[in-house]
This record gives sequence, C-alpha cells and structure tokens, in this order.
Amino acid sequence: MTEFEDQGVSLTALAVAAGRAVETSRPDALVKDPFAAALVEAAHSHVDFPTAWPSDPGALSPLQQPLLLASIYIGVRTRFIDDFLQSGPATGQTVVLGAGLDTRSHRLAWPEGSKVFEIDHANVLDFKAGVLARLSPPPACELITLAADLAEPWRALLLAVGFDAGQPTTWVLEGLLPYLDSAAQKAVLAEVMELSGPGSRAVIERAVPLPKTEDFEAKLRDFSLQTGLPMSELLARADPPDPEKLLTGAGWRCEGHAVQDLCVTYGRTLSLSPADPAHRAKPEQPPHDHSRGGFVTAWRP
Ligand SMILES: C[S@@+](CC[C@H](N)C(=O)[O-])C[C@H]1O[C@@H](n2cnc3c(N)ncnc32)[C@H](O)[C@@H]1O
Repeated sequence: MTEFEDQGVSLTALAVAAGRAVETSRPDALVKDPFAAALVEAAHSHVDFPTAWPSDPGALSPLQQPLLLASIYIGVRTRFIDDFLQSGPATGQTVVLGAGLDTRSHRLAWPEGSKVFEIDHANVLDFKAGVLARLSPPPACELITLAADLAEPWRALLLAVGFDAGQPTTWVLEGLLPYLDSAAQKAVLAEVMELSGPGSRAVIERAVPLPKTEDFEAKLRDFSLQTGLPMSELLARADPPDPEKLLTGAGWRCEGHAVQDLCVTYGRTLSLSPADPAHRAKPEQPPHDHSRGGFVTAWRP
C-alpha cells in the first residue's frame, strides 16, 4: 500500500478520479478531466482501477466491472455539478467539501477574482497538489486548500484562511456525506447554512440509508475486501438527514434531482451496454448503486 492509500477514504477519492479518467476516454465524454488518469497513475494503487473505456467491458475482471459501471455514474455526476457551477451568476467564493482529487479548480474557467477553497485530509490535498504542479500551470482561480477533518469543527479553520461568511458562496458536497455519520452530516449542513451569505448556493449529493439485509452487507464486505474501498463503512450511515428538508426549513429554495432523470438528461444508462454484442458477462449490481440518492441544488435568497 502506498503512502497515499494509508487512509481508506483516500482510496475512494482515487476511485472517483479513475471514474473521471474512464469518462474522459470515451468518444462521447460528458466531461474532460485531463488530470484524472495521471492522478491515478501517480498513486501507484494496489487496486487495478480501469482508467479508459475498454473495447470489451465483458472481458474485465469481476472487480473491474463494478468500477467501470461506477464510472458511468461518476461521469453524469461530474457533468451535472460542472453545469451547476457554470450556470447562473457566479459567486466570488466556492467551497468544495471533501474535495478529493476533484480538479475543477484547474479545469473550469473561473471569473477573475474567484476564490476556491478545497477541504479534505492533508494526504489527499498534498498528493493532488504535487501531481497538478507537475502537469498544469496555476489555476485561473485563487486556490486555497485546507486540511481539516469535516467530522470535527472546521469553521474557525476556514475563516482563518480567508473565507468571508458575509459573501455569497457556492458549496459543493460531492461524494462526501456518505462518509460522515448522521450527526456529522447534520453538523456539516448546519455549517453550510450558517456560513452562507445572501445569494449563496449549494449542490449536495445525498447519502441514503442503506438496506440492512444480510445479503447486501455480505456483498459490501466482499467488495471492500477485494478492493480496499471502505464500502462497508457506509453501513453505519443508517439515518442520514435530508438536506432538502433542512435547507428548505432555513428558507433556502431547493430542487431535488433523481439520478435516473440526470441519466436521461445526459443520455446515459447505468449499465455496461447489454446491447453491445461484445458484452459477455452480466455484472452484478455494484454496492455503489444503493448509495445513489440523487442531488439537491439549493439557493439562499
Ligand atoms: C468519494 S471521495 C469524493 C471526492 C471528490 N468530492 C470527488 O467527487 O472527486 C470522498 C472524499 O471525502 C473526503 N472525506 C471523507 N471524510 C472526510 C472527513 N471527515 N474530513 C475531510 N474529508 C473527508 C475523503 O478524503 C475523500 O477525498
């Protein structure tokens, strides 16, 4: 195991980057992340993540098939959030909570003067900064990284690095909430609301309660053992708060987005092309499917 992988959660950041690498390789790519494949390569992971769409998905190993399937979801999710960030009037500040190996700071065109705050564990942020420094000129935004544990209080740390709670802010919570227990999810969402000046907005990927059946738990355990991805930790997330309810209660205007609807919008099916005659093995539904709860977009008047 490499230094980067010594925390299980970091491996999930890598899995998402691998998904974006696969998406980028497709002729019909929904997003182009020119750094994703290099980030995966630089991590020297013990997991053999697919980083390009194969000519025959059915020939992939039983471990790689669910990862490839997940890449379809990652492509849709990334594009949806890119579109959200690039729609409507931009805010001067953007905060990416659990930023992982997200490269939007470098990929997207940011209006002059934009500040992007990325929060995650130090090992993830340091690894990404090292790779991007080799591959890319400095980003168009002012990028401020903050190593913090989002399950602990983080407000003072964010304010200390120049975040202005009086200004409108865009918040990105992508792939984060499932890794926090219910109390920490509530605390993070409360901080987002507290720290948002008028005109703020948020895009939040929901965590959903997972089925507590023996069969499902066994599948997650197997998947975790094979990959090292801490999917079984998700089992603890039994009673997540509903972000839409919380934000609406605080006066935000919210919209819910079902994954299925986004797939229709972006012309994707969450399957490994059973219509493709080259597709031989029918993969099992990966555990990931059950943790897809859709998204909430929200605006503070
Ligand atoms: C599945 S990854 C998603 C990363 C990124 N948002 C993306 O979509 O590429 C989850 C990220 O949340 C971070 N994370 C999970 N729990 C955290 C915590 N308590 N404090 C800070 N970061 C955390 C992990 O380190 C990881 O980078």
